[in-house]
Amino acid sequence: MATQRESVEASESEVAVHWKEEEYFYPPRDFIAQANMTDKKVYERFSLDNFPDCFKEYADMLDWYQSWHTTLDTSDAPCWKWFVGGKINACYNCVDRHLAKHRNKAALIFVPEPEEEPPVAVTYQELFVRVNEFAALLRDFAGLKAGDRVTIHMPMVPELPITMLACARLGVIHSVVFGGFSGHACGDRVADSKSHVIVTMDGYYRNGRLLDHKANADVAIHVAEEAGQKVDKVLVWRRLPGKYLSGSPMVDGRDFFVDDLLRDFRGKRVDPVVMPAEGILFLMYTSGTTGKPKAAQHSIGGYLSYVTGTSKYIQDIHPEDVYWCMADIGWITGHSYIVYGPLALAATSVVYEGVPTYPDAGRPWRIAERLNVNILHTAPTAIRGLRKFGPDEPAKYNYHFKHMTTVGEPIEPEIWKWYYHHVGKGKAVIVDTWWQTENGGFLCSTMPAIHPMKPGSAGPPVPGIHPVIYDEQSKELPAGSNKAGNICIRNPWPGSMQTLWGDRDRYVSTYYGKYCKNRDSKDWRDWPYLAGDAAMLAADGYYRILGRVDDVINVAGHRLGTKEIESCCLQVPEVAEAAVVARKDEMKGKVPDVYIALSPGFAPSEAIKQAVMNAIEESIGKIARPNHVYLVPDMPKTRSGKIMRRVLSALSNDAVDVGDVTTLMNPEVVEQIRQMVATH
Ligand code: WTA
Repeated sequence: MATQRESVEASESEVAVHWKEEEYFYPPRDFIAQANMTDKKVYERFSLDNFPDCFKEYADMLDWYQSWHTTLDTSDAPCWKWFVGGKINACYNCVDRHLAKHRNKAALIFVPEPEEEPPVAVTYQELFVRVNEFAALLRDFAGLKAGDRVTIHMPMVPELPITMLACARLGVIHSVVFGGFSGHACGDRVADSKSHVIVTMDGYYRNGRLLDHKANADVAIHVAEEAGQKVDKVLVWRRLPGKYLSGSPMVDGRDFFVDDLLRDFRGKRVDPVVMPAEGILFLMYTSGTTGKPKAAQHSIGGYLSYVTGTSKYIQDIHPEDVYWCMADIGWITGHSYIVYGPLALAATSVVYEGVPTYPDAGRPWRIAERLNVNILHTAPTAIRGLRKFGPDEPAKYNYHFKHMTTVGEPIEPEIWKWYYHHVGKGKAVIVDTWWQTENGGFLCSTMPAIHPMKPGSAGPPVPGIHPVIYDEQSKELPAGSNKAGNICIRNPWPGSMQTLWGDRDRYVSTYYGKYCKNRDSKDWRDWPYLAGDAAMLAADGYYRILGRVDDVINVAGHRLGTKEIESCCLQVPEVAEAAVVARKDEMKGKVPDVYIALSPGFAPSEAIKQAVMNAIEESIGKIARPNHVYLVPDMPKTRSGKIMRRVLSALSNDAVDVGDVTTLMNPEVVEQIRQMVATH
């Protein structure tokens, strides 16, 4: 018995995956007719034989002051340097260079959350003026220069991209902290990045409420000072100029209203600072498996080339498109695919202040209809919410999407199909883009006019990305093996972070420690990048991402993807959302616990629980049978809408302390769920 158990565990990395294959959906002919990239040869051009010079194709989409002499410098492996010798400015590429042709075209359209406030278009000319004036303020009033860091803690308003672009114009490194984060979280990041200046806003609208935001800056400054970082200036944009929406006092000599200061900078122009390609554009903090946040450090030339190229080919952005990405600019998706990629291509990028379901689940479709949005970019969590609260809403509005994106977590085929049939009305292509904060841009996705779509699979790697799936013994798991393992990327790419800010050791150990073939090597072939996700490769070359490896449950020696189990739950019609976590079990090591939120109009019942159990047993087998199915009033969620599985996992394992819940959207549900689990 003991021997048998051991032998099962020894082969743990070679996981049987029980996911059923899905059918293909083909891109519509009229999409293909207008697409930016229809030539399959692009994959030959970006093959490893042509690496790294193939990425010139993306870099050539930008304007350079001086061309590079070395495409990829590996001398400091694994800190890769791209386009060395090149000179460039990111702001120039996103703003100035479009003036000749697109001066009067909307660069940004701001949609305030209150529906009675009409959308505001910011033309490229207006963006140019506002970025210049604010850059002059940052330089001459705040004393900032190339290489300094600024922490930006702002909501979804046009002043956020304006602030970022003004920093980029000066070569100042921005560190945008998601607006929904607490003052405490912001303060930690101010200290880590050593920012002397915070840019914030007094307040903003969210879910029908006016939130006091400036108060967070006071907390952040206190926290940063405790950690040894002094903040000299807080620049406060006002959501409604002339009015102050915050209860927090303005500290004399430290806090300043931007609209007051800007009077002195009216009409000022600042030449873009000529920066080396491998200079730093921004820092983006992300959570790791250990507590301390870490900042991915992104370059100017490599990053901008990569997001521009992928926005053009994968997002299919043309200058005449109205593109709406519902992510928050405070996350990497917003940086790459609301601000830098779309603006580098002279697109019109929509910035929506509020939540998608405010005041009702028809809001996104009203926005799409009114602005004539034809490219939509959002996440499975938003799609699930819109399906839950307004399954019939899309049909009521007259909009036409040619292209839709999903990003951020694996999408269950059920949800994918609702997105396709109801939101896209069967006429839009979908790209399921897999990537991470650390990567700058997409790693796997279908090329929308070239490949058919397969619900639940991200698809093949994007041009120039060469993944490999390794088991625990560094053995490659081939296509069609039906086993999941650790997905890695064999080669560097220009969008990749340069390092973790101030922590090279953590960068090397986290992303390369496991599979590096030779730590002294300067050859990129020895340094596969470990993404930390479990994935499997189907026989057709499509990658299916199962989730973070730490989301994988080992039940009696069988590794089960929590996502896979969640996907089964969603086959039950009453189920709106499902989260699966591991409960410790004496016999089996771990067993899945299932948390379910029902669609409105359905009452919890034993029958639903049984249907969920059956769906799991039928699709995966008895091995995946959950210990409990809890029908909860709501899922604990982060402000960005991700289900906090960490909290559920703590509750399942009877932890008294569920960890920090201050960043949750709905902390009150935690106690309700605890009661439910305790009395079960
Ligand atoms: C997950 C967001 C499946 C994955 C851009 C990754 C996905 C983590 C997908 C990164 C996708 C992202 N399919 N899983 N299309 N996209 N993920 O850093 O686990 O916020 O490692 O970057 O999200 O999240 P991050």
